[in-house]
Amino acid sequence: MRRDFVVLNALKDNGRDFSCFRRPITYQIAKNEQECPKKPDKKFVLAGGCQSLPVLCYLHTKHMVQLLLNMEYAFFLGSNPALSAAEIHDYFKRTGIAADFDLKYAPKLLLVKTANELKSQAIIDNLGGTPMIARIIGAMSEFSAEAIIDELALEEQFIPNKKPVFSLSFDALASSLPDSKTARDVRAVGITIKKNINKKGCRAVLPQTGTALTTAQLFNAGVPEDAVGIHVLRVEKNLFLAMSVVAVQDITFYTRRDRERPEADPGSGMLPVKLAQMFINFSCVAPGTKIYDPFCGVGTIAAEAILQGFDVVASDISPRQVVRTKTNTDWLKNTFPNLIDPRKTVQLFEQDIEKPLQNIEVDSLNAIVSEGWLGPGIHHVPSSFEMENIFVKTQRLLNALLNNAERFLKKDASVVIAIPAFRVEKRIFRAPFLQENLRKFLPKSFVVESLVPENWSDAIFRDASQGMMLYGRPDAIVLRDIIRFKKIDKDKKSEYR
Ligand SMILES: C[S@@+](CC[C@H](N)C(=O)[O-])C[C@H]1O[C@@H](n2cnc3c(N)ncnc32)[C@H](O)[C@@H]1O
Repeated sequence: MRRDFVVLNALKDNGRDFSCFRRPITYQIAKNEQECPKKPDKKFVLAGGCQSLPVLCYLHTKHMVQLLLNMEYAFFLGSNPALSAAEIHDYFKRTGIAADFDLKYAPKLLLVKTANELKSQAIIDNLGGTPMIARIIGAMSEFSAEAIIDELALEEQFIPNKKPVFSLSFDALASSLPDSKTARDVRAVGITIKKNINKKGCRAVLPQTGTALTTAQLFNAGVPEDAVGIHVLRVEKNLFLAMSVVAVQDITFYTRRDRERPEADPGSGMLPVKLAQMFINFSCVAPGTKIYDPFCGVGTIAAEAILQGFDVVASDISPRQVVRTKTNTDWLKNTFPNLIDPRKTVQLFEQDIEKPLQNIEVDSLNAIVSEGWLGPGIHHVPSSFEMENIFVKTQRLLNALLNNAERFLKKDASVVIAIPAFRVEKRIFRAPFLQENLRKFLPKSFVVESLVPENWSDAIFRDASQGMMLYGRPDAIVLRDIIRFKKIDKDKKSEYR
């Protein structure tokens, strides 16, 4: 049996730059289907595997060596890349999908390597912080129309049932581009490609302005549902990743959930829907289990939890808020009945968290996910006296919540909660009790669990303080400090210190 071996390092000597794969890899090319671990599309040269990275298939074009390693995806990180990356990590953890992560192209991308193809649209629908997911199809050391036209032809073969609509985006990491010139060059390349594609009866979508397509443009063009999208991202000076867009955030559905629900409460602060999804993911709670929001407001977290198929418990000190949550969750169920599992339960009641918790079964909650009290709706720069008062009350409420909830939470359950922080003239004030005496007030069966995934030390996490992460628009005075506690065996607390 004849076998060919291709060593990427040797190819590098031919003038190609494969540094995106970073380690030297030997690829074994199979010459017949029997040799393959899986049966890839027959248009591809078939390949076997190597010790550390099995390869499904291998293709060598004039312009690019294309490698379909165990499925490598680029998750585009949202406006708060640290939260987005942590969320993706926790989503994979809580849904049990094995993956390796790489932040080398942060803050733009998180690379995710998995053994199997991902159900990308279903995943992105549950991720608040990821605007787009693309499958990496190769790397190019130059950016030319010819190279991309080759790529498009291959993608067309790879996904033969898709409509011949291509989206082309040339996105650059901020670092390396002399921008005005590049935008012109990129546009010229785009137009050459568009003409070529049009000749074949295909349609191409190009960026309206600049070099990168927006998520909205991709979504409106029907990518990725009806189209094959090629996204070219410059990640290093002479290295371009070519990707096929496999999922974009459904902006219409988000807008409907945010704006069409009957009850809103801008006064006490409503959690953006996307952030509610992030909170649920941070709790690492297994799908289909039970979530409690003790400060439910108008029910943003409750609604997202219902959509994701959890049993939901929600309460608030204010009877008015409880009614609003009921109205909004009923609206959701009636408006999107096909998306909601009718067997799942929703329990709503009035409850001051500083009073003994009632109505909940002992040892029944898999997670508490909540945006706590954020203060009395401050719209001015707060004085230090005001901030101090808010922090004192926050500590009291948090203490009451943890003591109260302890016996209702299952072992290993997480409590994810947002508390207020303030921005005053570019300085951030975070609750002092978090730094000073958190351990003193924390009930024995809880520890703080960092939101920064273990061994992740990228610069995007520089705002994280003791594993807590901040969320706030650049002009916001009141920010949310997100904390995750974990319920542990009281006797084992010393192991966590
Ligand atoms: C920032 S809002 C939550 C908003 C909610 N996440 C939403 O999207 O609508 C905080 C909520 O905490 C409630 N609250 C304040 N003190 C409380 C307490 N002691 N016990 C329970 N709920 C309380 C308020 O009524 C308010 O609805």
